Amino acid sequence: ADALKIGIAGLGTVGASLAKILVERRDMLTTTCGRPIEIVAITARSKGRDRGVDLSSAEWFDDSVALARDAKIDVFVELMGGSGDPAYSAVKAALSRGVHVVTANKALLAAHGVELAVIAEQNGCILNYEAAVAGGIPVIKALRESLTGNTISRVYGIMNGTCNYILTKMEKEGLSFEACLKEAQRLGYAEADPAFDIEGNDTAHKLSILTTLAFGTKIAADDIYLEGITNISIDDIRAAADLGYRIKLLGVAQKTDTGVEQRVHPTMVPLDSVIAQVDGVTNAVAIESDILGELLMVGPGAGGNATASAVLGDIADIAKSRPGAQTVPVLGRPAAALQPYKRAQ
Ligand code: HSE
Repeated sequence: ADALKIGIAGLGTVGASLAKILVERRDMLTTTCGRPIEIVAITARSKGRDRGVDLSSAEWFDDSVALARDAKIDVFVELMGGSGDPAYSAVKAALSRGVHVVTANKALLAAHGVELAVIAEQNGCILNYEAAVAGGIPVIKALRESLTGNTISRVYGIMNGTCNYILTKMEKEGLSFEACLKEAQRLGYAEADPAFDIEGNDTAHKLSILTTLAFGTKIAADDIYLEGITNISIDDIRAAADLGYRIKLLGVAQKTDTGVEQRVHPTMVPLDSVIAQVDGVTNAVAIESDILGELLMVGPGAGGNATASAVLGDIADIAKSRPGAQTVPVLGRPAAALQPYKRAQ
C-alpha cells in the first residue's frame, strides 16, 4: 500500500524521539499499520542540530505554516507547542486543505479546540491529540471512544509530570524546589516556559480538554480555579505526611446539578490512596462513570518517549484508517452537539 506521508513541525524533545522511533521501527510499523510511515517534510527552530537520526531525505521547510500549506503530506504532526502562532495558523492551514493533524499541543486545544474541531469536520479530517493530556496515558481514547454511552460525573488526577516530579523529589530527597525544577527541565519534562507547569496552567489546559470530552460542554479553559505549587515548601510536605497525607497537584472536573466545576490546586490526598502513591513524572487520571464505574489510569506523563508513544499511536490510527471512512468526532461528539459551558453555582 502507499506510504503514509507525514510532515513534522518541531524537533524538540518529543519530535526528536518520534522521528527516531519512526526511522528505527519502520519495518515493524509497516507490518502493524499495513503501510509504511514516511517522514517527508520537517521544520524546526534550528536546522543544524544533531538529533541522533538521519532526516536528510525529508524536505526541509523554514516555516511551519508553509510546511502545513505546501508539503505533499497526508498528516501534519504539530510538536511546536504554544497556544498561538505559528502552531495555530499551521494546524488551520493543514486542516483547511484536508490534511489530517496530530498534535501534542494542549495549550492550542484549550484556546482553539472547538474552532479546530469544526474545521476538521468541515474538511473530513482527523485531528488526534492523545499526547496533549497525561503524556503516554491513553486518556483521550478512553473518554472519546471507550466510554461512549457512559454518563461521566467526575474526572480528576495528576496531569503534570513536572509538578509531580518536583513534589516527589522534595519529599524523598529533601532537595529545594528550584533544584528539582532544574532537574525536571534537564530531563525534558518541563514546558519551554516552566511557569506553565508550576503555576498550574498546563494542568488547567489539560483539564479543560478532559472536561469537554467528559461532559460534552464547550472548552472553558478560563473558567478554572487555579493555584500552582510555587508556595509549597518542604515543611508543608512534611506536615502533611505527619497527618497521613501527601500533597499532589490535582486537576478536578465534576458535574453538579447546576453546571460544571473545574479546579486545579495542591491537594492533600490520604497516604493509602492510589493517587498518593503516584511518584515522579508519572501521571494518573481517574474517570467516574455510570456504566463502567471508576477507571484509574496511571503511567508516564511527560518526556520524549512517553509523549512520542502517544503521538505514534495517533499517527498509526490514521495509517490504519480507510480513506473516506467516518472519523471519530474530534471532541467526542460532533462540534455542533457540544453544549454551552455553564459554571456550577
Ligand atoms: N510539561 C508537561 C508536564 C509535559 O510536565 O507534564 C507533558 O504535557
